[in-house]
Amino acid sequence: MSKAAPTASNASPLAVVILAAGKGARMKSALPKVMHAVGGRPMLANVLEVARALGAARTIVVAAADAEPVVELARRWDAATVVQDPPLGTGHAVLAAEGLLANFDGTLLVLFGDTPLLTAAALTPLLEQLAGGADVAALGFRPDDATGYGRMVTDGERVVRIVEHKDASDHERRTHTLCFAGPLAGRAKPVFDLLHGVGRGNAQGEYYLTDIFAAAHARGLRCVAVEGPADEVSGVNSRAQLVEAEVKFQSRRRSALLESGVNMIDPATVYFCADTIVEPDVTIGPFVVFGPGVRVRRGAEVRAFCHLEGADVGEGAAVGPYARLRPGAELAENVHVGNFVEVKNSKIAKGAKANHLTYLGDASVGANSNIGAGTITCNYDGANKHRTEIGADVFIGSDTTLVAPVKVGDGAYVAAGSTLTENVEPDALVFGRARQTAKPGRARDLRARTKPKEQR
Ligand code: UD1
Ligand code: CA
Repeated sequence: MSKAAPTASNASPLAVVILAAGKGARMKSALPKVMHAVGGRPMLANVLEVARALGAARTIVVAAADAEPVVELARRWDAATVVQDPPLGTGHAVLAAEGLLANFDGTLLVLFGDTPLLTAAALTPLLEQLAGGADVAALGFRPDDATGYGRMVTDGERVVRIVEHKDASDHERRTHTLCFAGPLAGRAKPVFDLLHGVGRGNAQGEYYLTDIFAAAHARGLRCVAVEGPADEVSGVNSRAQLVEAEVKFQSRRRSALLESGVNMIDPATVYFCADTIVEPDVTIGPFVVFGPGVRVRRGAEVRAFCHLEGADVGEGAAVGPYARLRPGAELAENVHVGNFVEVKNSKIAKGAKANHLTYLGDASVGANSNIGAGTITCNYDGANKHRTEIGADVFIGSDTTLVAPVKVGDGAYVAAGSTLTENVEPDALVFGRARQTAKPGRARDLRARTKPKEQR
């Protein structure tokens, strides 16, 4: 969202209605279509973010009955929800929000919840058209494949009518290549008035939002088409289109991060989420996956084949290759987490290192401590999770198991192979293992006794 969009504050107040109640039959899924993820978050979240970026005074999500995840997501974005039951088409869906906007006298912007790549900048021209005197402004685009889209029949910049793909003749499908993208803006009152006049005598038996254009044109209202970038405005109706959107999302994020000063060896193999934060001068190796909620700070390095989720990687830290950071992993400055190390819900302080084959879960590690290869925090007793607290400047020898809850004081030294079940005092040297015993010559005797008879 680079370009600043005109916000409602310098014009009339803005209400955004997001349509999210469709059956999404083409997804063949129990999950509402708008909840399918692109960039690690529901498509609807992108549209809610756009509404926020536009400075909407009111945002209303139109949800289907029993669409609890949709309602919950809207709530998290401070948006209201209204239920459309049964869903009888996009025009019917916008009307479902009319009650909540009874006293609203401003601009109404309709958005479709299935547009995961939509940006506020793509909508700016619509609001500018209204400010310039248009009655209704509709966003169009020219997709590579127009199948399924409503075709905009125009006269110059004016929209005369929109004909849905299923209702269009072959001739109309061929001649009208500008397709309706979904977003439209107008004064709330006249748009609702127009919607009340819409019927459902069409191929799908639905109340089409797109039918308001013919009516508006007939009334002499000025309906204007604005052409937007296909990459941003395309809707998702099927799993294949969801994948296409994901591919575009990833390519957009990779380019933006390179542009902002991130170094990537093979960007095409690195996957980001919509909320991934990577600061300049970070280096990311090939085949790295960022799940939701990750921040990587300046100068850090995430080496090949890492998987990060809900993690904060400090300045100058080094992660991987082959490391897994799970939610609550907080790595401070210059921390090193090496190959086959998993960190979950743990704070690792400045300069600490866990370089090989380790699990740190529900733990804290103090500054400059060294965690040896094969160290495991036994945080789970089968019923509850417990914490392991390791102080600063501690040395944990290889193959140590820390049975939580347990604390290791600053400056302590734990011998390799120890199993710690009790707290360790600061600066103590602790052995938590069986003493080594040797029986001279007994190996030879043993071999002799166990050799097959014929070989003796
Ligand atoms: C719609 C447009 C079409 C446009 C295309 C752009 C209509 C009639 N058609 O077709 O002109 O080219 O989008 O992507 O508007 N929804 C509801 N309630 C309903 C029906 C749909 O909330 O009763 C929501 C859906 O959840 C979705 C959006 O409205 O987010 C669009 O519905 P969808 O069925 O995907 O419309 P398209 O067939 O794609
Ligand atoms: Ca659609």
